[in-house]
Amino acid sequence: MDIPFRLNGEDTRATTDDPTTTLLDWLRESRGLTGTKEGCNEGDCGACSVIVTGPDGVPKALNACILFLPQLAGKAVRTVEGLAGPDGTLHPVQQAMVDEHGSQCGFCTPGFVTTMAAAHARGATDHADQIAGNLCRCTGYAPILRAAEEAARAPVPDQMSEAPVCASHILGSDHRHPQTADDLADWYIDNPDATLVAGATDVGLWVTKQFRPLGKLAFLAGCDDLKGIEITEDEISIGAMCDMETLRHAIAPHFASFAELLRRYGSVQVRNAATLGGNIANGSPIGDSPPPLIALGATLHLRRGDDRRSMPLEDYFLDYGKQDRQPGEFVERVTIPRQSDALVCHKLSKRFDQDISAVCGAFNLTVEDKTVTAARVAFGGMAGTPKRAPATEAALVDQPFTLETLERAAKSLAKDFTPLSDMRASADYRLRAAEGMLRRLASNAPSVLEVRP
Ligand SMILES: Cc1cc2nc3c(=O)[nH]c(=O)nc-3n(C[C@H](O)[C@H](O)[C@H](O)COP(=O)(O)OP(=O)(O)OC[C@H]3O[C@@H](n4cnc5c(N)ncnc54)[C@H](O)[C@@H]3O)c2cc1C
Ligand code: FES
Ligand code: FES
Repeated sequence: MDIPFRLNGEDTRATTDDPTTTLLDWLRESRGLTGTKEGCNEGDCGACSVIVTGPDGVPKALNACILFLPQLAGKAVRTVEGLAGPDGTLHPVQQAMVDEHGSQCGFCTPGFVTTMAAAHARGATDHADQIAGNLCRCTGYAPILRAAEEAARAPVPDQMSEAPVCASHILGSDHRHPQTADDLADWYIDNPDATLVAGATDVGLWVTKQFRPLGKLAFLAGCDDLKGIEITEDEISIGAMCDMETLRHAIAPHFASFAELLRRYGSVQVRNAATLGGNIANGSPIGDSPPPLIALGATLHLRRGDDRRSMPLEDYFLDYGKQDRQPGEFVERVTIPRQSDALVCHKLSKRFDQDISAVCGAFNLTVEDKTVTAARVAFGGMAGTPKRAPATEAALVDQPFTLETLERAAKSLAKDFTPLSDMRASADYRLRAAEGMLRRLASNAPSVLEVRP
């Protein structure tokens, strides 16, 4: 198979027999570009970060260790070797890292500078969020953050603008690379045993950590018509291939707390890859998008061939590892009814950044004349699926919106959930944490981010 893309400013074709060859392995083993490092090989450390620019022209940091070569067709890739100018002048981020002593052993440094250069090219100044997916064991983050601040004052160098890639079609592939949802629907109904690859933030780990043979694959990266977000008077419609970072920015003016929750979804590299469709389709009990979507009354739209059906999102999750999806059926989009923003989300994980939820709670309460007139409450991490809390909701509705009501309703959580104990949290801790989240709705307790010395 021949995959066309641009590498450090030059058109290239990656040739491989294995569609699950990662960009990281190909760069290091086939191209000798060993600046891109392998740390964890599972998207957690950022040592393998590269810059990928798609047809929208937006440079994004991605983890090369969980990025399959076919996902790159028609895109431009820039590695640490391609950051300096043609005359060797360092990229402003590289120069600032030198000036601010932002590197010691240097193993993490290529990943930091590529992530920071992608942020610099987009004019992003939320530096701590931008580097939350890059781990450094020895330097400490203060000099690195100072370097990002210093570099932000310099213009984006010319070498960072990527010309459109000449070709985008993969040649000689036995796998499917649909360019539209129709194309995917036609093919998937005849090939229901195939694995769909969206952002590969789950599927990538099946390969790099579980060494699982995947069989027939369909890479959805070319389905631009599944990526959009459409906002009408009645609803917000989000395509299954919309990535979490795009969703985060688009949803912020409508549901601020949902956007804040997504800020803590993985890291910028993970959010740039992970899609809403993947986060729902995988049926994980600890995925971060289902609780807020369920609390907002979202509808899931599935498609099989030309047949489409819709259901309340909560009905899709039948049991642990079991979803209401037929062979050959895929997630096409999710719609959220327009409503005023009453959503409050809480994510509890062992680390603030780049961690999976132990408990994720989403609360959508309508309060009129100091009385709760409607309530939708949903949790992740409290059962084998993301799940609504009907007894808790019933204990809230028609009650005064007071701490006493929330305290009483919190007791109903034990009727709604029998959480499990696992490496993230014990069952008892989960229940108490969920109760605390509910109680917190009545308080003005600051977020941990607001607590500063
Ligand atoms: C380092 C790291 C940090 C993470 N942090 C978080 C976090 O904070 N919160 C969180 O919720 N998750 C997190 N995840 C998990 C992961 O990002 C999500 O589950 C992700 O949303 C999966 O989406 P994807 O597009 O990458 O899916 P893929 O890996 O491509 O696919 C996942 C599954 O969904 C199927 N699929 C994909 N798209 C469709 C579709 N349209 N229709 C039907 N089936 C489909 C695939 O076949 C596969 O079975 C993290 C993952 C990593 C590696
Ligand atoms: S090697 Fe750690 S994120 Fe890729
Ligand atoms: S400089 Fe050593 S890990 Fe960051």
